[in-house]
Amino acid sequence: MALTLSDFAQSLTVETAFSVLAVAKQLKAEGKDVVELEVGDSPFDSTASAKSTGIEAIQNNQSHYCASPGIPEFRKAAADFVSREFNVDAKPENIVVGPGAKVFEQFFCEAFLNPGDGVLVFSPYFPTYLPNIQRRGARMVLSDLKQSNEFRPDLADIKKFLAEDPSPKAIFLNSPHNPTGGVIPEEDLKAIADLIRGKNIAVFSDEPYCHMVWQGKHHSILAQPGMMDQCVSAYTFSKSYSMSGWRLGFCVASEAVATSIGKMVNTTLSCTPPIVQLAGAAALNCDSVERDEVMLKFREKVVLLTNKLNAIENFHALDPHATFYVFVNVAPVCNQLGITSHGLALYLLEGADDDFGIACLGGECFGEAGQGFLRFSCAEPNDRLEQAIDFIPEALSRTDRIASYLESHPAARLKAPYPV
Ligand SMILES: Cc1ncc(COP(=O)(O)O)c(C=O)c1O
Repeated sequence: MALTLSDFAQSLTVETAFSVLAVAKQLKAEGKDVVELEVGDSPFDSTASAKSTGIEAIQNNQSHYCASPGIPEFRKAAADFVSREFNVDAKPENIVVGPGAKVFEQFFCEAFLNPGDGVLVFSPYFPTYLPNIQRRGARMVLSDLKQSNEFRPDLADIKKFLAEDPSPKAIFLNSPHNPTGGVIPEEDLKAIADLIRGKNIAVFSDEPYCHMVWQGKHHSILAQPGMMDQCVSAYTFSKSYSMSGWRLGFCVASEAVATSIGKMVNTTLSCTPPIVQLAGAAALNCDSVERDEVMLKFREKVVLLTNKLNAIENFHALDPHATFYVFVNVAPVCNQLGITSHGLALYLLEGADDDFGIACLGGECFGEAGQGFLRFSCAEPNDRLEQAIDFIPEALSRTDRIASYLESHPAARLKAPYPV
């Protein structure tokens, strides 16, 4: 009998950025010059203390199993960090370490969701939220973020979810937001906390871009009264400390929830490498000046990218609020050319030129509400960003190439115009 995969495995959707990355790398291997703006990685080196402490930890043979929730040095450094920087009243017992922030989506869902439970997610959304909700047989309920509202969550939709969903259980927040670059202002966090306080509602607060707020400063819902009892916040070293390949992040939760998530680490990963935890603790304790200097470089890149994209006819991006992404509305261009936004992204990579391409993502890679947008990250040097954006008007004017791309890629044809 043929071996069948589970229904879950067969329906699993993945982060498209990694699929586009594979195409970009293949084209580069074949000799094409590709500017890679698809993946949210840092072009900078990991910070100095992280590197030196990691090397030292290897030399000191810190190369064995350790406690599942984390080594004491790491848990203390992480608790001090969120207390100092985000005014969150955390102790080491509130911290669980993991290989990045993403894994806490799964552990949060395992901690709180039963089959059939409703989970409110703001769309566009980080693509791995859905498979992690589906792992538990729970239901994703969507609320659209709008460019006209600076991509702020609609509080009326939260009220509606709490009042009308047959089994409301959780809310996913992501501020600063990937892919839109939006921020949930402190007053909205307060209002959300007021809506859920004391109810059987858990919040996953995904905060990987906590140091990339370009207007004002970062706020976590965990700092709101009582929220430590109802929220799990996730942080990563991938963005702030340019440590994506080390795989390091942590979550902050009540002691009871942290103990439960520690059991999930125990039963899946066993532990996070102590070498990596020591490097991360050193980054938190010693590298904030270097980190903030690098953040300013990101800000400069985002401003450059936004200005250049807004200079293209019928492209419209908001002034940079946060993150290292620019989410630009290209709906009028898609409508005119009869191409989907992800079709346009792939055309810029594969079809617009034989020797040069730009890798970026269509907004629909982040859910239907992203249709009509392109997401650019700024993971390349500034001169390469400029070269890429300067090429776009030329690429859009090559109507013969667009026609033949649509001919050979019928899925890229736009079936009905996007709303403008
Ligand atoms: C919103 C969001 N959540 C989670 C992650 C995962 O980051 P990590 O590398 O820490 O797993 C990312 C990375 O791009 C992200 O953008």
